[in-house]
Amino acid sequence: MFPSQQARPFLLPSTVPKPKSKAAHPGHVRRTLSWIIFLAVSAFLTVNLFGQIRGGVCRTSSLLPRLGGCPAILAAVWDLFYHLGGNGPWIPRKDGVPYSNASLPKQCSVDQVHMLSRHAERYPTRNAGARHLQLLHRLHSSEVTLTGSLSFLKRWTYFTDPYGPAFENLTATGPFAGTSQAFNTGKSLRLRYDHLVPKNRSTKFWSCSSARDILTAEYFADGFFGSDWSTNGSAELEVIPEDRDRGADTLTPGDTCHRYVEDGTYGHDYGYRKLEEWQTVFTEPIARRLAQHAQGLDLSHLDIYSMMEMCGFEVLARGSSSWCNVFTHEEWSHFAYARDLLHFYRAGPGNSYAGAMGWLWLDATQNLMSNESSKDVYFSFVHDGDIVPVMATLQILNEHRVIQELPTNQMKRDRRWKTSDIVPMGGRLIFERIACGEASLTSRQDYFVRLFINDGLTRFPGLPHVDKITHAVRLADFQRFIASRKDLFGDFRQVCNLSEDAPDKITFLHQ
Ligand SMILES: *[C@@H]1O[C@H](CO)[C@@H](O)[C@H](O)[C@H]1NC(C)=O
Ligand SMILES: *[C@@H]1O[C@H](CO)[C@@H](O)[C@H](O)[C@H]1NC(C)=O
Ligand SMILES: *[C@@H]1O[C@H](CO)[C@@H](O)[C@H](O)[C@H]1NC(C)=O
Ligand SMILES: *[C@@H]1O[C@H](CO)[C@@H](O)[C@H](O)[C@H]1NC(C)=O
Ligand SMILES: *[C@@H]1O[C@H](CO)[C@@H](O)[C@H](O)[C@H]1NC(C)=O
Ligand SMILES: *[C@@H]1O[C@H](CO)[C@@H](O)[C@H](O)[C@H]1NC(C)=O
Repeated sequence: MFPSQQARPFLLPSTVPKPKSKAAHPGHVRRTLSWIIFLAVSAFLTVNLFGQIRGGVCRTSSLLPRLGGCPAILAAVWDLFYHLGGNGPWIPRKDGVPYSNASLPKQCSVDQVHMLSRHAERYPTRNAGARHLQLLHRLHSSEVTLTGSLSFLKRWTYFTDPYGPAFENLTATGPFAGTSQAFNTGKSLRLRYDHLVPKNRSTKFWSCSSARDILTAEYFADGFFGSDWSTNGSAELEVIPEDRDRGADTLTPGDTCHRYVEDGTYGHDYGYRKLEEWQTVFTEPIARRLAQHAQGLDLSHLDIYSMMEMCGFEVLARGSSSWCNVFTHEEWSHFAYARDLLHFYRAGPGNSYAGAMGWLWLDATQNLMSNESSKDVYFSFVHDGDIVPVMATLQILNEHRVIQELPTNQMKRDRRWKTSDIVPMGGRLIFERIACGEASLTSRQDYFVRLFINDGLTRFPGLPHVDKITHAVRLADFQRFIASRKDLFGDFRQVCNLSEDAPDKITFLHQ
């Protein structure tokens, strides 16, 4: 099939709204686009029904064969953003109950909130960016003839100035600008958690020390606390250095876990090895297909991967990308699988250091949940590599078997780990503590915990359920569960081969 026929309808430049200022509203854009897709599908179904009455289009009577016979429906519903493997704009998680549906019984309310968030939409890192520019240089060589699906390249320019690139930094243009995404997230979380913001004292929040995380935290705070938060005393940002020697007292355990950094086989590099194994497999047919459109050039497996990366990153900077139309849906699912292998083995369920790394923030968080007088919000900004281990510790997205493995010679379709809607740009975990009943001299309040992954309310497998609140667990059960994960995954200092006098827990996380 000709790939451009499968393009996501709203990536066509003509339907993408113009870049807006900081107060722009990607949420609004997405809602509008959802409507467009909804209307398109409705229109198709209507046409399809009439088609049937007239004995036309799909000529089948039951729904399933009709869907099978009319792939255009599926093409309209297929959403590229769920296949960008963490290089795409923030998207809500599809599995799980949406926030608006996750209402609480009357006598219950959210009384403490913990968020661990990835920085917002950004440009490529220096490494990836250098790879892109090197590929473009070769593609634009006078010996190369660009035709077919690559002919757009004759007029295409890179999405950041190659002579002064904004690599590593947030995007600030287009409908998915990281700056406005962070600001709007702050605004919408304020609507949810306004009752937890003290009026007479300052609220602390935290960021690791990368410029893009600090910037995200600041834009978020502009939306959440108001733009004068840093001068009028309503909030205070604490930056936690990404230093190697902080031991367990860190937001970025991947930097302080020495063995994880040094173990070239099963540590941090494990994910890159698995990624490369699959890269050579899935890009091979793509390279063969595209070779005819870039005559005079040998396309390596990294070249194909770089092209696919540029789709996501150009969307983040410009709102759309011609690269996205170069590849088929199946090829995008292979790319997403590559990104899943990277994260699953770099710091996820497939990495044996991850459980101990993710435990640190969870332990600090469960400890704060014991403080009945703290009705506060706790917001922290980190990297994808610091959120993924938390998922490993919780074992929520593990494979349904004891050994955590994903193959690299073929794609496992029914896997549980999907990087795209766990750590998209701005990806976030939110734990809510919920209090039910009136506190009085004779009775205490009951406390529960629930977890949202990108606003999708998620079940804790293996923990006793409560009847009255969807997917919530008792606070005491949650705390026992976190404590038991230390027995399972080991003590951070031992797992990481740190000395006895290295800090053994997070100390800064409190109001
Ligand atoms: C959300 O709630 C509405 C109204 O109860 C229901 O129709 C809808 O199916 C729910 N959506 C999901 C994804 O649970
Ligand atoms: C990063 O982007 C922000 C937002 O556009 C901008 O204010 C800042 O100057 C950039 N930082 C660097 C180092 O380019
Ligand atoms: C702030 O106000 C709350 C109630 O409004 C009160 O309980 C608390 O003591 C006050 N804190 C300070 C530091 O004044
Ligand atoms: C700070 O400014 C915001 C508006 O930007 C306002 O809502 C808040 O009450 C102010 N806080 C203090 C402590 O003055
Ligand atoms: C509980 O939280 C309150 C409000 O954040 C804080 O003042 C107090 O020190 C905390 N108590 C403990 C034991 O940490
Ligand atoms: C653990 O650390 C010590 C000293 O810091 C070092 O000598 C030793 O080789 C390390 N062990 C492993 C398994 O990395």
